[in-house]
Amino acid sequence: MAQKSPRPLRSQAWFGGDSKDSFIHRSWMKNGGLPDDAFDGRPVIGICNTFSEFTPCNAHFRGLAEQVKLGVLEAGGLPLEFPVFSCGESNLRPTAMLFRNLASMDVEEAIRGNPMDGVVLMAGCDKTTPSLLMGAASCDLPSIVISGGPMLNGKFRGADIGSGTDVWRFSEDVRAGRMSRERFMAAESAMSRSPGHCMTMGTASTMASMAESLGLTLPGNAAYPAVDAHRARLARLTGRRIVGMVGEDLRLSKVLTRRAFLNAIRMNGAIGGSTNAVVHLLAIAGRVGVDLTLDDWDAAGRNVPTIVNLMPSGRYLMEDFCYAGGIPAVMKELSDLLDLDVPTVTGGTLGDNIRSAENFDPDVILPRDRALVRDGGIAVLRGNLAAAGAILKPSAASPELMRHRGRAVVFESIEHYKATVDDPSLEIDETCVMVLKNCGPKGYPGMAEVGNMALPKKLLERGVRDMVRISDARMSGTAYGTVVLHCAPEAAVGGTLALVRTGDFIELDVEARRLHLDVAEDELARRAAAWSPPEPSMRGGYQSLYVEHVLQADRGADLDFLVGCRGHDVPRESH
Ligand code: FES
Ligand code: MG
Repeated sequence: MAQKSPRPLRSQAWFGGDSKDSFIHRSWMKNGGLPDDAFDGRPVIGICNTFSEFTPCNAHFRGLAEQVKLGVLEAGGLPLEFPVFSCGESNLRPTAMLFRNLASMDVEEAIRGNPMDGVVLMAGCDKTTPSLLMGAASCDLPSIVISGGPMLNGKFRGADIGSGTDVWRFSEDVRAGRMSRERFMAAESAMSRSPGHCMTMGTASTMASMAESLGLTLPGNAAYPAVDAHRARLARLTGRRIVGMVGEDLRLSKVLTRRAFLNAIRMNGAIGGSTNAVVHLLAIAGRVGVDLTLDDWDAAGRNVPTIVNLMPSGRYLMEDFCYAGGIPAVMKELSDLLDLDVPTVTGGTLGDNIRSAENFDPDVILPRDRALVRDGGIAVLRGNLAAAGAILKPSAASPELMRHRGRAVVFESIEHYKATVDDPSLEIDETCVMVLKNCGPKGYPGMAEVGNMALPKKLLERGVRDMVRISDARMSGTAYGTVVLHCAPEAAVGGTLALVRTGDFIELDVEARRLHLDVAEDELARRAAAWSPPEPSMRGGYQSLYVEHVLQADRGADLDFLVGCRGHDVPRESH
């Protein structure tokens, strides 16, 4: 059943005709039993699968892919599944972020090099969503995202517990002597009790919400739990829809406009989303050729109330969010703040998609006058400590620390921090500012999620719950605290952060968007002259390529040579 399409299908460059080459392309494909009519000009749909048993959040993706295939077949397409590098957050060292760009290269080249006309991107764990979108955006075929869905709520001794967020909380309780080791260990099995990704509003749920807010998924995609039958149904409908998108030539670049990114930034404020969305959206925009900057994050996110009451900003979890109506219900509540005329993968506008949305639980999706934070956007800070910018998430911070001047206590590396933070002789109190260096894109390498460094044990025991922390690192989307992240330029390239010494004074003023190291210019110049970069942790291999080419956080930490869309022209023949 050939589909109507505005231009010849690229898969026909492989599968059409009667040449030696088309024989080769078809014959090998037939070794699994495909009939002749599989190659009659129907759209070939790639199913880009990030399944891996090392990525537990995506370990259920084989079953989900079967649902996508059914949908593609029902709509008259030929589904062909392919694996790509799976960026699993919980296991990959030194950090999954180091491999986001590598995975995106895999995705881009696999899409362009193979006979496909459209692609379904199967994303779940944190970095899998941006790596798929970055790679696909550099090709610009019709593309649609299906997320794997969050785990069911964690359940522990009568209470709900959330991925990540409660790990940070429990481990602080253990260190402060408020929780026993036995109880801590018992929480481990209770936290992750079904397939799916983190069910807090961490980076995975945030990026699934970003994909939905950008208009790249069918409505409701972000919130359905992985094990809910709705998830399987959505996968099937996604498979059907991509075939239609190929017929309409509804390419990624038609959906991923600047207006769509501004919507997503506003939605990130509304959901209290992860700070990681900042680097990821900047990188995706860079691939598709949309001009998006850190300043857009600050400006577009201002005055957006955080109304989604989920951990780490609030108290509920993704399962509750699903039953409350999910992203469409949030969009409906804030429809005056969004551009509802943007096109989406459904073929309709964002406004069309949310017409029938409803908020079924005003404790989970709060009315505006009960917002968690009135100004929930990401604050972009500047000053001599972050000439190219740093960020802070107000909804996760302590209001009394948003304007603070304190004495710096400096950790030169993550190892230095771990070795000294609990030393009883460390001169530190709750008014100090903890500074961590060399954890940025080049420094770690990969910009690890260590920016929310745990407080010194002796302060935790005294009941201190938050302090100002500053670094060039990221933090987990499930984390919280008055944490200044993504300082650019980073310490490892000689940013001012590299020059901070214990005893210096630092001023943070979130309202004024200011981050200042109170040290005289000439003294900073002396320190800069004496500074030398840290030794690279590895020579050769991907890590060297990464360190040589990675851009700073304010540019999304993409590799310089990967920025931009290289299109999907059919490459020259292989034989
Ligand atoms: Fe995979 Fe949190 S570890 S989503
Ligand atoms: Mg994470």
